[in-house]
Amino acid sequence: MTTAIPLVDLKAAYRRLQAEIDAAVARVLAGGWYILGPEVSAFETEFAAWLGVGHVVGVASGTDAVLLALRALGVGPGDEVITVAHTAVATVAAIELAGATPRFVDIDPITYTLDPAQLAAAVTPRTRAIVPVHLYGAPADMDAVLSVARAHGLLVVEDCAQAHGARTRGQMVGTLGDAAAFSFYPTKNLGALGDGGAVATNRPEVAERLRLLRQYGWRERYVSDVAGYQQPVGRTPGGHPARPPGPSGGGERGPAAAGGAL
Ligand SMILES: Cc1ncc(COP(=O)(O)O)c(C=O)c1O
Repeated sequence: MTTAIPLVDLKAAYRRLQAEIDAAVARVLAGGWYILGPEVSAFETEFAAWLGVGHVVGVASGTDAVLLALRALGVGPGDEVITVAHTAVATVAAIELAGATPRFVDIDPITYTLDPAQLAAAVTPRTRAIVPVHLYGAPADMDAVLSVARAHGLLVVEDCAQAHGARTRGQMVGTLGDAAAFSFYPTKNLGALGDGGAVATNRPEVAERLRLLRQYGWRERYVSDVAGYQQPVGRTPGGHPARPPGPSGGGERGPAAAGGAL
């Protein structure tokens, strides 16, 4: 007899956290606030505290998190953004959606993350930013990335979509660059029931711009200060994870615990 073992069993985490998730869904439905609102704000505060970062801004997906982080930092048409050739297509799509041109460097064959030795040669006068990707939970070599960024005056947006809770030299990924993008796609280490994303940053002016960009550019309701569109965070009742993983939360690991981050 053979038994099929699923690569990912998304229902496993639900079964483990069912009472808590059902209560959260019921609370959201009864609360009547289905886009942003108090539940998303509470999550942003808790996730920021767990990461040890000044600000977290919830967005609709990890792709939007990379896109809006770049836009909030002023990266756009005419700019080049260096990233790594071995990543999810979303990293590159977000750079292109920002209007910038992706430039690739290869991986280090041991770590599978961006090879910093190739970075300096990829910098041109049009380069504005580097997007290192912490892949499969393994942090990129951030000391080396930051040192090239500093030497050339470049911005750094960490792609942490696959690396919630990973640390490098004792520090959480997502706290090291100008901004960092997280995904809560259901198969990620911290997966939502639906898609979701967040940008973390220690720069208050970047957080403020992200809040404008994620909702029509509104500083005040119905008054658009900048061109933004609706980032429907919390579009589904379970569209954001109930809480960050780790000691403070019940969900130490998301649905990807068995299957790894996809
Ligand atoms: C490295 C990486 N960056 C960005 C993303 C985009 O996340 P999302 O699927 O939530 O848009 C993913 C998810 O596939 C990813 O693996």
